[in-house]
Amino acid sequence: TKKTIFATNTKLIMKVNTAEFVMSNQDITKCPIPQIPEYAFIGRSNVGKSSLINTLANVKNLAKTSGKPGKTRLINHFIMNKSWYLVDLPGYGFAKASKAHRNKYEKFINEYMMKRENLMNVFLLIDSRHPPQHIDIDFMEWLGTSGIPFSIVFTKIDKLNRSQKGSFYAAYEAEMLKTWEEMPPHFITSSETKDGREELLAYIEEINGSFVKP
Ligand code: GTP
Ligand code: MG
Repeated sequence: TKKTIFATNTKLIMKVNTAEFVMSNQDITKCPIPQIPEYAFIGRSNVGKSSLINTLANVKNLAKTSGKPGKTRLINHFIMNKSWYLVDLPGYGFAKASKAHRNKYEKFINEYMMKRENLMNVFLLIDSRHPPQHIDIDFMEWLGTSGIPFSIVFTKIDKLNRSQKGSFYAAYEAEMLKTWEEMPPHFITSSETKDGREELLAYIEEINGSFVKP
C-alpha cells in the first residue's frame, strides 16, 4: 500500500486577471527560474490539456488545441496573474508517434517532473468517456512511487449523458482502490461548459499559499 501525499481542498475563488505565454522548450534547464509555484497538465493525447489551460486562463487560444492528437510537442509555460505558472505538456499514448519519439518524450517528461523544484502539483487529465486505461493507471503508479503530488481531472463531461455522469467515477474508483489506499483529489470538468473551473482555481489558490521559494 502507498502513502497519500495530497493537499486538501477549500472553497476560495480566484480571479485570473492576466494570462500570458512565457516560453516553449524541450530542455528543463531552460525553463523559467523556479521562483513561483507551477502546475503541470499531463494525460493522453487529445484528452483536452491545452483546452483546459485556455479555460482556466479564460483566453481562447492561449494554448494551441487541435482535433488531431499530438498537437502539443514541447514544455509550454504560461504565467497567470504574474504569480504562478501553468504548464502545457505533450500527451502520451499517441499511437502514431515513432518508438524513438516516444522514448525521447518519456525521458524529457520524466526529467521535468522529477527535477522541477517549483512543481506543486500535477493534474492528470482523463477523458470521462472512456473506461479506466492501463496507460493512465500506470502513469499514476509512477507518480505515486516517485512522490509527485497529483490530482485527477476528468475532462469532456459535457459529452456524457445523465446516467453516464452518475456512474463513470465509480469505475475509476473501483480500479484505483485495487492499488491505492484512498482516491486522490479529483475534479470533473468541461472546457465547453466551464464546469469545474472554479473548483480547480480554488485548489490552485490554496496550494499557492504553501509555496516556499527554493
Ligand atoms: P495534445 O496536445 O495533442 O496532447 O492534446 P490536448 O490534450 O492538449 O487536447 P486539446 O486541448 O488540443 O483538445 C483536443 C480536442 O478535444 C479538441 O478538438 C478540443 O476542442 C476537444 N475538447 C477539449 N476539451 C473538451 C471538452 O471539455 N469538451 C468537448 N466537447 N471537447 C473538448
Ligand atoms: Mg495540447
